[in-house]
Amino acid sequence: MYRIAVIPGDGTGPEVVAEGLKVLKAVSEKFRFTYQLEFYGLGGERYLRTKEILPDSVLNELKQMDAIYLGAIGHPDVKPGVLEQGILLKIRFTLDQYINLRPVKLFSGVETPLKDKGPEDINFVVVRENTEGAYGGVGGSIRKGTPDEIAIQEAIHTRKGVERCIRFAFEYCRKRNHKNKVTLCGKTNVLTYAFDLWERVFREVAKEFEGIETDYAHVDAVCMWMVKNPEWFDVIVTDNMFGDIITDLGAMIQGGLGIAAGGNINPNGVSMFEPMGGSAPKYTGMGVVSPLAAISACQMMLEHLGEDRAAQSIEEAVMKVVKQDVKSLSAGKMGYGTSEVGDLVVKYILG
Ligand code: IPM
Ligand code: MN
Repeated sequence: MYRIAVIPGDGTGPEVVAEGLKVLKAVSEKFRFTYQLEFYGLGGERYLRTKEILPDSVLNELKQMDAIYLGAIGHPDVKPGVLEQGILLKIRFTLDQYINLRPVKLFSGVETPLKDKGPEDINFVVVRENTEGAYGGVGGSIRKGTPDEIAIQEAIHTRKGVERCIRFAFEYCRKRNHKNKVTLCGKTNVLTYAFDLWERVFREVAKEFEGIETDYAHVDAVCMWMVKNPEWFDVIVTDNMFGDIITDLGAMIQGGLGIAAGGNINPNGVSMFEPMGGSAPKYTGMGVVSPLAAISACQMMLEHLGEDRAAQSIEEAVMKVVKQDVKSLSAGKMGYGTSEVGDLVVKYILG
């Protein structure tokens, strides 16, 4: 029996999460596993009503779960940063979800701007460090609001944090058994202290993984190659900030935020899975956004829980839907509503 926390969140989060849960129910019946859902009404609405962001009591309950399924956090009436830091980053950090895992995989039938590249060319995974770097919140400002204002925002890279991330990347690469190649994405020519550490640890850890090829690329070059030669990549490991940026690029080349999902992984603790797109306030409640990213997040969650066959069947169903049914993954252009797309996925799973 899995205990799964569900945080539908803001904007279109609740409507896409509903589709993911529909799919979860279908695969649980087909592949015979049981689960119990706990819903948490966190997000902008609650904050505006009660000033409550993420009570410690909820955080403590989340620590007891087998997994967390998240829709989206972010509200147009709340100052940027409040909910992101107070909910999303707070959960990632407190539960020590030190890996942000983001597959970039083009399914047949999905339109990508890289017209001449196909599913065999776009299939890699970004392993993003998820608890340190520029996200540590270390810094400050003085003389605020004056012409002499100075702001400092430090990036933290610890030996332990870097090492566990790189080790995860190599282990994941071995398990994935695709091209058996790990690329370190950094900026050794400018961020000479931080990426000197990353590079040394990368070389050290690589020695433990015979048969896995290693490569290094600066982050700007990675951006170019993700578009020009995405087939060069298998597993890319990088720090928090660079990972944030290159995974949005990755989302676009695999067809956009309507399909891109991610996991916040603590290999020894509670992990959280989410569609990569935000709360999309302008589409809220219209039933026009793609639920396939949220459904793919559900697939990643099941893979993480060890329900490999259920996860596989979700991926196959999603592949069918994008190949045969939806016209586009953009909001309002699918040719179907959010809930109808969820129904199609369920139909293929059960069919
Ligand atoms: C993501 C998002 C978050 C991040 C924001 C919402 C804090 O962009 O999950 O990539 O920067 O990590
Ligand atoms: Mn991001």
